[in-house]
Amino acid sequence: MKKANLIILGAPGSGKGTRASALCEVLGIVQVATGDLFRNNLKNGTELGKLAKSYMDKGELVPDDLTAAMVEDRLKNPDAARGFILDGFPRTVRQAELLDEILSRKGEKIEAVLFLDVPDEEIVRRTSGRLICEKCQATYHVSYNPPKSDGVCDKCGSKLVTRADDKPETVLKRLDVFRKNTLPLVEFYRGRGSLIRIPAELSQDGVKADMLGLAKQIGLAG
Ligand code: AP5
Repeated sequence: MKKANLIILGAPGSGKGTRASALCEVLGIVQVATGDLFRNNLKNGTELGKLAKSYMDKGELVPDDLTAAMVEDRLKNPDAARGFILDGFPRTVRQAELLDEILSRKGEKIEAVLFLDVPDEEIVRRTSGRLICEKCQATYHVSYNPPKSDGVCDKCGSKLVTRADDKPETVLKRLDVFRKNTLPLVEFYRGRGSLIRIPAELSQDGVKADMLGLAKQIGLAG
């Protein structure tokens, strides 16, 4: 497999995490999810985690500079040397500019930006049924992707919980923030010729096969 640096872009609950983790398995690269990094910081009681929570609980974005610094730090980890998929970053044009600066310091670039195009009604269905593992953060859905045993993670056996920011009123706020701040990135990356649209109709079944097909299409897998 070729080294690949990718971005996955989409509304809250559009399936970024689900597709990114399948693509990582296929390509042997690492998933860098800013939401997970903030939640891990919170679990570890760091100042960054506490600060991030104050934004996340309201469905707002954590400030650009703090988020970009956290990503730059994460990309220094040796596991990112074979490539990475950024899940949930960048989320503003300013973050995209900061990412350009981070990558130019590393002498690297982004090969492709995957855009998950999912309608709002489906976003509400996906977030309202989502469950996550409180330990390893694996994601499930009560009807689309249920765990084998109710309330228990298939991967590590820990308890499944609902995310604090999946309350319907917070999801609506997150969708608003997405339209205003993040959707402009679709044109930003389309203008660079690196955008690939992934239609909403693709189901969660066979997600790994879909991602392998995509990797071949963009020349990252043979
Ligand atoms: P983050 O954790 O990144 O949340 P998000 O972007 O809102 O995305 P989600 O994790 O909600 O959803 P997803 O697209 O990964 O979907 P998933 O695969 O889980 O960020 C949380 C907060 O952190 C932000 O609001 C902000 O405050 C802060 N933050 C994070 N990054 C930031 C940044 N760069 N700058 C500033 N602040 C930042 O799927 C959803 C559900 O649907 C699951 O239940 C899944 O099983 C199901 N599903 C997935 N795909 C399908 C399918 N094809 N068919 C049916 N069901 C499906």
